[in-house]
Amino acid sequence: MTTLSLPVSTERLLLRRFTPDDLDDLYAYQGLPDVARYLYRPPLTREQCAQLLARRTAGTAWAEDGDALAVAVCPAGEAKVVGEVTLKLAGARTRQVEIGWSLNPAYEGRGYATEAARATAGSAFAELGAHRLFARLDVLNTGSVRVCERLGMRREAHLVENDLDGERWGSEYVYATLAREWKAGRT
Ligand SMILES: CC(C)(COP(=O)(O)OP(=O)(O)OC[C@H]1O[C@@H](n2cnc3c(N)ncnc32)[C@H](O)[C@@H]1OP(=O)(O)O)[C@@H](O)C(=O)NCCC(=O)NCCS
Repeated sequence: MTTLSLPVSTERLLLRRFTPDDLDDLYAYQGLPDVARYLYRPPLTREQCAQLLARRTAGTAWAEDGDALAVAVCPAGEAKVVGEVTLKLAGARTRQVEIGWSLNPAYEGRGYATEAARATAGSAFAELGAHRLFARLDVLNTGSVRVCERLGMRREAHLVENDLDGERWGSEYVYATLAREWKAGRT
């Protein structure tokens, strides 16, 4: 089956699969309003985190539109999940892959999201055969914009008031990079 080779070590992180023991760590960030602020949904309850974790640990199919993989981000040497990078197969035929990331705010500002996303993006191209990797983010989500730009992704779209975040009209950027561009940027 096509999937990611995990665990992977980067300079400062261990990237691995989620396990059933990660519920407390997952809820510690997915339960926070600050983390959900630009995700167009409320923070997750502990029960919702348990359901999410069950899906993440049950299977890693990567064949059909909508299939998803999640990578747990752990500081090297710490038995603790401090965030995640997610991949979604947005188009199986056209090999379009959406990437996303979230960190526990206690671990922001260290470059962990960029480091984990860079490694996961590389694996999406090298192992999952992605042709194009893209991210969608609220234009107000400046931390996430900076992650995209540090990764060298191109801002391809600015969709104006294309979604509702409660009462607020939300606008969205789409950032993307192609497999050949990713490869060229790293050789
Ligand atoms: C988006 C999100 C992951 C960004 O987190 P972040 O900590 O800003 O991003 P990184 O972990 O890559 O850290 C980068 C910052 O660390 C700084 N940094 C400090 N020490 C560093 C080091 N040793 N190496 C690299 N960067 C370092 C960088 O300068 C950068 O700061 P800047 O953006 O002010 O220039 C985080 O805000 C989050 O989880 N938000 C909620 C969920 C969300 O909105 N997800 C995105 C949905 S599209």
